[in-house]
Amino acid sequence: MRNVQIALTKGRLEKQIIPVLERIGIDCSELKEKGRKLVFKSHNANISFILVKAVDVLTYVEHGVADIGIVGKDVLLENEKELYEMIDLGIGRCKFCVASIPSYNPDSYKKKTIATKYPNVASAYFRQKGEDVEIIKIEGSVEIAPLLGLADAIVDIVETGQTLKENGLIVFEEMHDISARLIANKASLKMKKDEMFSIIDQMEQALTQRG
Ligand code: PRP
Repeated sequence: MRNVQIALTKGRLEKQIIPVLERIGIDCSELKEKGRKLVFKSHNANISFILVKAVDVLTYVEHGVADIGIVGKDVLLENEKELYEMIDLGIGRCKFCVASIPSYNPDSYKKKTIATKYPNVASAYFRQKGEDVEIIKIEGSVEIAPLLGLADAIVDIVETGQTLKENGLIVFEEMHDISARLIANKASLKMKKDEMFSIIDQMEQALTQRG
């Protein structure tokens, strides 16, 4: 059996993917007691993991360094890459939303400024609505932008809504549902067909059984 390298997204998804991997019998003990380590082996399967930032999951999978990746649909929508999206894992559920302070008027004819970590998703959304907006790219803590007058509104992912609430923002438009996806390198799917499909099929089955 050839080794299959899986790139996992650091952070929230990392915790949610462990039960899914364990359900199909992959030992995740190293991953659970990881400390600051970023590369792990599974003891009972020919599988190794790397832990990287979401957008880097796409890069490692596109270049074939990782055969499989686990990443949010938000990151896939924002970055076009040459890879296969295989399964909706149903974890990491959240929504892309337009949010702002309560005084924001989404129907205003004035040209709006939108702050976001997702400029491509935001441009595509407003373009499809026939609205010309100015996009400002922000790397994080985007909720601050409307509070300080940098932007009229933000486009961001909302999971529990807690971050918006604590910063006095509300959702004005729900754009897309997001969840984690299993992605695969195109060449790996051919060259490690049996190993890759063994993992992918088992995951699909485990998800169906879960309902
Ligand atoms: C995302 C998003 C919001 C927050 C929403 O950021 O940008 O800030 O989560 O989650 P909530 O609705 O449950 O409050 P994330 O925590 O992923 O960190 P980042 O800003 O570093 O991307």
